[in-house]
Amino acid sequence: MQVFICLLLVSFISAQYSANLTNYAIIAATTVASAGSTYVIGDVAISPGTSNTGLVQGWNVIGSIRITDPAAIQAQQDLNIAFNVLGNLTASPTLTGTDLATLILNPGVYNFTTSAITLTGNLTLNGTGPFVFQISTTFITSNNCHIILLNGATASHIYFQVGSSITIGTGCIINGLLLAGTSITVNGATVNGGLYAKDAAVTITQSSIILAVTPYCYIGPTVVTAPDYTTCSTVHHSAGSHRVNIIHFVLLALAIAFSTITV
Ligand SMILES: *[C@@H]1O[C@H](CO)[C@@H](O)[C@H](O)[C@H]1NC(C)=O
Ligand SMILES: *[C@@H]1O[C@H](CO)[C@@H](O)[C@H](O)[C@H]1NC(C)=O
Ligand SMILES: *[C@@H]1O[C@H](CO)[C@@H](O)[C@H](O)[C@H]1NC(C)=O
Ligand SMILES: *[C@@H]1O[C@H](CO)[C@@H](O)[C@H](O)[C@H]1NC(C)=O
Ligand SMILES: *[C@@H]1O[C@H](CO)[C@@H](O)[C@H](O)[C@H]1NC(C)=O
Repeated sequence: MQVFICLLLVSFISAQYSANLTNYAIIAATTVASAGSTYVIGDVAISPGTSNTGLVQGWNVIGSIRITDPAAIQAQQDLNIAFNVLGNLTASPTLTGTDLATLILNPGVYNFTTSAITLTGNLTLNGTGPFVFQISTTFITSNNCHIILLNGATASHIYFQVGSSITIGTGCIINGLLLAGTSITVNGATVNGGLYAKDAAVTITQSSIILAVTPYCYIGPTVVTAPDYTTCSTVHHSAGSHRVNIIHFVLLALAIAFSTITV
């Protein structure tokens, strides 16, 4: 019963504090650097830094790129709040290993007796969540890792709250919101959730797909949020961008496919 009440509370708190993040695919403090054929669905915020290499609104970003404007500043503030709230949740249970691979976990706030955690294979999350992983230093994955969703688990209820940096390996499929105290590096992966770097850079070194949980799209003056992607596919995408091209349709098809990754 206690665990149940605790999870309800986590659910409420995390929904409240991540609500303003989930239209963002990427939030960075210093720079965003992206290489390869990377596609981003959702907004991008950079603040207080200003450097963006490789992402172009209306081309490989379906969404708005916001650099030190009020929305970007707000995004960083919301990220800081979410990071602290998630990090301060009472953990239950505590895990003793250092590798999440092969585990099948039920909803919970997972803390670790070790500071650096890896994922060298697949992690299965079983149930609607929330799932919170409090990692004190680094979170590093191998190549081809998967976070597999089972029995109603969804990316929007999965949080990795990581004290320093996050590194995602090539070919991984990650479901969840990745909150790093410092930087995030993605070496060619699909992330259905968000890359949120509180104090440093987001670097994408090879072709990746980064998909926000609730990217905005606009139908005339009305903002529509996911999961209504199908309506979006017939209209303009993102504030200020009126280019709808073939890549958008391909990306929307991918968005629909990846937003429902389950086994
Ligand atoms: C999220 O945005 C709403 C509406 O703008 C605002 O009232 C709320 O305070 C924001 N939440 C956080 C955690 O900043
Ligand atoms: C808990 O919140 C405080 C701010 O209220 C923050 O300084 C601290 O880093 C947070 N703890 C964790 C583990 O994130
Ligand atoms: C998580 O575990 C670490 C020790 O590994 C501890 O210092 C920290 O207080 C724990 N955090 C919570 C929120 O229980
Ligand atoms: C991880 O999951 C994927 C997709 O279900 C599967 O193809 C792959 O073989 C799994 N890898 C391992 C190491 O189990
Ligand atoms: C998923 O969780 C349910 C409920 O706790 C449990 O009955 C089931 O065995 C779990 N599935 C796996 C594959 O562990």
